[in-house]
Amino acid sequence: MSFRLRRASVDDLDAVMAIETSVFVNDAWSSEGMAHELASRDGFYLVATPDADDTRIVGYSGLMVLPGAPDADVQTIAVLPEARRSGLGRALMGQMIAEARRRGVREVFLEVRADNPGAQSLYESLGFEAIAVRPRYYMPDAVDAVVMRLRVPATTTEPAGPVTEPAVVPSTAPAVVVPETSESEPLS
Ligand SMILES: CC(C)(COP(=O)(O)OP(=O)(O)OC[C@H]1O[C@@H](n2cnc3c(N)ncnc32)[C@H](O)[C@@H]1OP(=O)(O)O)[C@@H](O)C(=O)NCCC(=O)NCCS
Repeated sequence: MSFRLRRASVDDLDAVMAIETSVFVNDAWSSEGMAHELASRDGFYLVATPDADDTRIVGYSGLMVLPGAPDADVQTIAVLPEARRSGLGRALMGQMIAEARRRGVREVFLEVRADNPGAQSLYESLGFEAIAVRPRYYMPDAVDAVVMRLRVPATTTEPAGPVTEPAVVPSTAPAVVVPETSESEPLS
């Protein structure tokens, strides 16, 4: 299965919340909170749709960057079970990291449940490292949060030939196709 990523908007709220409440059963965000995130000018939210059906959202992710801040936070990421292990989570993360870099961010932070080794494995594969534990952070389950940080590598090399812009996900149109065999999004 291939997927497309596009910028999310408040119009996607119902579809995003349907995934949110099915995936994060005990600690889902409220619809009001999610609407606020989707509408925020400081946010960068993406939704993923199957290449064959751009009306069906199967995953989403969100990044928050305050203006001028040197750091950003991965707010959320979720992929429906039937779309997992196809590279979609990695592609969503890759686009968020690329956006963080475009906004001048040097460090990206996230929190992940200590009992979620799959997500931790994804983040580690992208260069995130665990830097702290917040005991009993996730309620009502009283599960610890692992705080992870990615130092966003600065662009240090000069292109020898024509400059190729990194893939972007504009707010107006789908732009990124994630093929079934997709490798990781480039981090630098
Ligand atoms: C975490 C999540 C977003 C990953 O999405 P995904 O589309 O399956 O991720 P990818 O296919 O891009 O996986 C990339 C890599 O991450 C690691 N990974 C992802 N899920 C994993 C799992 N369940 N177990 C072990 N490793 C896993 C693997 O290294 C994987 O590469 P591989 O498939 O080649 O082995 C998805 O499992 C999800 O929505 N989970 C529920 C919500 C959640 O936990 N969100 C994170 C909150 S912090």
